[in-house]
Amino acid sequence: MAIISSKKQPPEPNGEPKQRRESAKAASTNNILQAEAAIDEQDRQEESIRPQRFADYIGQKDLKDVLDIAIKAAKSRGEVLDHLLLYGPPGLGKTTMAMILASEMGVNYKITSAPALERPRDIVGLLVNMKPGDILFVDEIHRLSRMTEEILYPAMEDYRLDITIGKGSSARIRSLPLSKFTLVGATTRVGALTSPLRDRFGLVQKLRFYEVDELSKIVLRSAELLKTPVTEDGAAEIARRSRGTPRIANRLLKRVRDYAQVKLSGEITESVASEALQLFQVDPCGLDWTDRQMLSVIIEQFNGGPVGLETMAAATGEDTQTIEEVYEPYLMQIGYLTRTPRGRMATKAAYKHLGFTPPSEQLSLL
Ligand SMILES: Nc1ncnc2c1ncn2[C@@H]1O[C@H](COP(=O)(O)OP(=O)(O)OP(=O)(O)O)[C@@H](O)[C@H]1O
Ligand SMILES: [Mg+2]
Repeated sequence: MAIISSKKQPPEPNGEPKQRRESAKAASTNNILQAEAAIDEQDRQEESIRPQRFADYIGQKDLKDVLDIAIKAAKSRGEVLDHLLLYGPPGLGKTTMAMILASEMGVNYKITSAPALERPRDIVGLLVNMKPGDILFVDEIHRLSRMTEEILYPAMEDYRLDITIGKGSSARIRSLPLSKFTLVGATTRVGALTSPLRDRFGLVQKLRFYEVDELSKIVLRSAELLKTPVTEDGAAEIARRSRGTPRIANRLLKRVRDYAQVKLSGEITESVASEALQLFQVDPCGLDWTDRQMLSVIIEQFNGGPVGLETMAAATGEDTQTIEEVYEPYLMQIGYLTRTPRGRMATKAAYKHLGFTPPSEQLSLL
C-alpha cells in the first residue's frame, strides 16, 4: 500500500531502504500514491513544507504546552532541555518537533536512526562530538542494539561515556565526560522500548491523530508554500481523507494538485478534491485499499472476527508490523476495529462503511 509507507528509513547496507524494497514488493495497481520514482522527490518536497518554528506547528496542543514550559524553564535556568521521548504513529510530526526544538533552543541537532547505530563506535562518535545543549535525535529508538543502549545509559544520566578497553581479565573501563546534551528519541512502538531506556527520558510525550480542522490548516499552509490555489472546502475535503496524519494530508494535496492542473483549471475545490481522491482510491474516510481489504476479510470470511494478525497480513500482503503500527491505530481511532486478546474484530460502523449489514441488525430482520 501506499500512503503511509514512504516513511523515511535509514539506508540499508545495500544502499536501498528496507521499506522501499518492501513497498516495491507490495506494489500493485492500487498503489498509485507510492510510485517508486517519486519517493525521492517526495522527500525533497516534504522538507520544503516542514514547519520550522513552534508557531507553524499546527495542533498537538498538549505536546506544545508541555514543551513550551520545558523550553522556557531550561532557558531561564541556562540548562539543557531534558531528554524527550516522542511516540505515536508515523507522519504525525515527531521529527519535525525535534527540529523545531533545536531551533527554539538555538542549538544544533543531529538526526540519526537506531538501525544506523549498530556498532558501539557509531553512537560513541556522535556523542563525543555533541556541543553543550545540542540535540541528538534518534528515530526508531526501540530498535537500538543492546550495546548501543548500554552506552547511552550513563551518557543520558551522567553525561559520561564508559568505554571498555582490552578484553577478558585485563579489561578496564575508562570514563570520559561528555557535553550536556539532549536526546530526543522517536518511536512508533513505545511498548517495545526497554524500561531502563524509557525511564531515562525526563519527558515522555504521545502524539495524537489530528482533527480535521487542524489538518485543513496544514493543507492550506502547505498549498500556500506550494503556490497551489485551494478553497477552504477543498482543503477540508483533503483533510477528511488524511487519516488524521499531516504527512498524508500533504501527500494527498500534491496528488490532487496534479489532478487539478492536468484535468481542470488548477484550483482545488471540494469537488475536485473528492474526484481526484476517488481516482486514487482514497475513500471519504481516508481508507485505502489495504484498510478496506482488512475489514472486508474480517467481515466476509470471519463473520466479523476475531481474526489473528497473521491472517490479516496474509490477506493484504502487508507485514504484521506495518499492520500493527500503521493501519490498525487509525482504524481503531475511528472506531472501525477493536483489538481483543483473541484477535481483531470489525465494529458495526465498519460494516456500515463497507455497505454490509451488521450482525445485530441481521438478526432483527429475521
Ligand atoms: N504539526 C504539524 N503542522 C504542520 N505540518 C506538520 C505537522 N506535523 C507534521 N507535519 C508535516 O508532516 C510531515 C511529516 O512529519 P514528520 O516527518 O515530523 O513525522 P514523523 O512523526 O517523524 O514520522 P515518522 O514516524 O514516519 O518518522 C512533515 O514534513 C511536515 O511537513
Ligand atoms: Mg520521523
